[in-house]
Amino acid sequence: MALWGGRFINNSHKLFKEFNASLSFDYILAEEDIIASIAWSKTLVKSNIITKTEQITIESALLEILTEVKDNIKNILSSNCEDIHSWVEEQLINKIGSLGKKLHTGRSRNDQITTDLKLWCRKQVNLLLENLIELQKTFIFIADSNHDTIMPGYTHLQRAQPITFAYWCLAYVEMLRRDVSRLKDVLKRLNISPLGSGALSGTAWNIDREELALSMGFDSATNNGLDSVSDRDYIVELLSCASISMMHLSRFSEDVIFFNSGEANFIELSDSITSGSSLMPQKKNPDALEIIRSKCGRVHGSLISILVILKSLPLSYNKDMQEDKEGLFDSIKTWNDCLRIAILVLKNIKIKRKSCRKAAEEGYSNATEIADYLVKKGVTFREAHNISGQLVLRAISEKKSLNDLELSIFKTYSNLIENDIYGNITLESCLQKRLSKGGVAPSQVYQEIIKAKKRLNIF
Ligand code: ARG
Repeated sequence: MALWGGRFINNSHKLFKEFNASLSFDYILAEEDIIASIAWSKTLVKSNIITKTEQITIESALLEILTEVKDNIKNILSSNCEDIHSWVEEQLINKIGSLGKKLHTGRSRNDQITTDLKLWCRKQVNLLLENLIELQKTFIFIADSNHDTIMPGYTHLQRAQPITFAYWCLAYVEMLRRDVSRLKDVLKRLNISPLGSGALSGTAWNIDREELALSMGFDSATNNGLDSVSDRDYIVELLSCASISMMHLSRFSEDVIFFNSGEANFIELSDSITSGSSLMPQKKNPDALEIIRSKCGRVHGSLISILVILKSLPLSYNKDMQEDKEGLFDSIKTWNDCLRIAILVLKNIKIKRKSCRKAAEEGYSNATEIADYLVKKGVTFREAHNISGQLVLRAISEKKSLNDLELSIFKTYSNLIENDIYGNITLESCLQKRLSKGGVAPSQVYQEIIKAKKRLNIF
């Protein structure tokens, strides 16, 4: 059923009809379109446009349609309606006849679509928040059993300073916390109802938009009709949250892919999330993580796409805006899927403590400690840095670790070095000294885990 036609003499071209239609992707807004329509029907009673009895008939038919939708949403796709709004209206008219034709009074698809989208986004934000929290909990769980799993920390992909596996986990918890906070922030601006803005200039009927907004769980109604039907900022914001969080997930993937590599050998990924090679029997590939890493690109693409669609678009509604949906739907699904997969990967990870420690011992990652040791003995940091660098060179040439150099050798580089140097450059000592807030000292990491557990209600 077309929602327009009176003004037209000729029919749409078949090609244009297909090109113009959005039902093939906006059908997923069916539930939201029905919920908003029920709220709208109640408003129509208050404005004396329909009677209470008529509203009850409309509402029960809409609820029936809702049940059918929940039963099999894909059934919608067999219709040749232009969009989800036409589809719901057609279903309603099929059920209750011409009374159904009253529902669209005072409403436009322009305020309807953005209302549906906001309701959909709100539901998705809640699901995303749940997944972001669960992923944090999973990291905390692993951190808790790896307080003393020492591994090398990297800069430039070169072994830099020792850290612990728990500390690495907590870095991701921090990133995910920012993702949560960004999403909650989006919710504040998103949860404002555009319904009742009409096509662009408000509705000519006496409608209490604030009451209507509250009835759908919005915090308030928007202030300007022109802005309301033009605004897709919430999609840009949501996709930018998605892009940042997916970037985090891609870095997580890259870290884990490296940890799992034959070269690092710090962890082993479970059979349940890896796949084999058709040719090389020995292979066990980290596909789950490689897919997360690349899905990130697709989400970034959607962000750029919506920005470009909206750029220079005149107020208010333009059909260009129909293109806001596929990227949004796809990105939110992708983000949720990737969070679930990341949880699965982590829950099944096996950490190889011995090889983590061995790698930390091997990479001269305690060279900073020698410099700090000399500073404590009165040497300037720049000079101490140089001495420590020379000692590293010496150790490399002798194929030894710094801990294995004899005291007499230390002394040829600085007379200030005494026997206590050895206690100062153990991995444990490197960690324990970094006690200040945010440092890697196990006691400090322990406190952070306790705080995170409280925040996440883990007992
Ligand atoms: N399918 C349209 C969209 O997604 C719905 C709004 C149509 N409004 C209009 N004036 N044609 O944007």
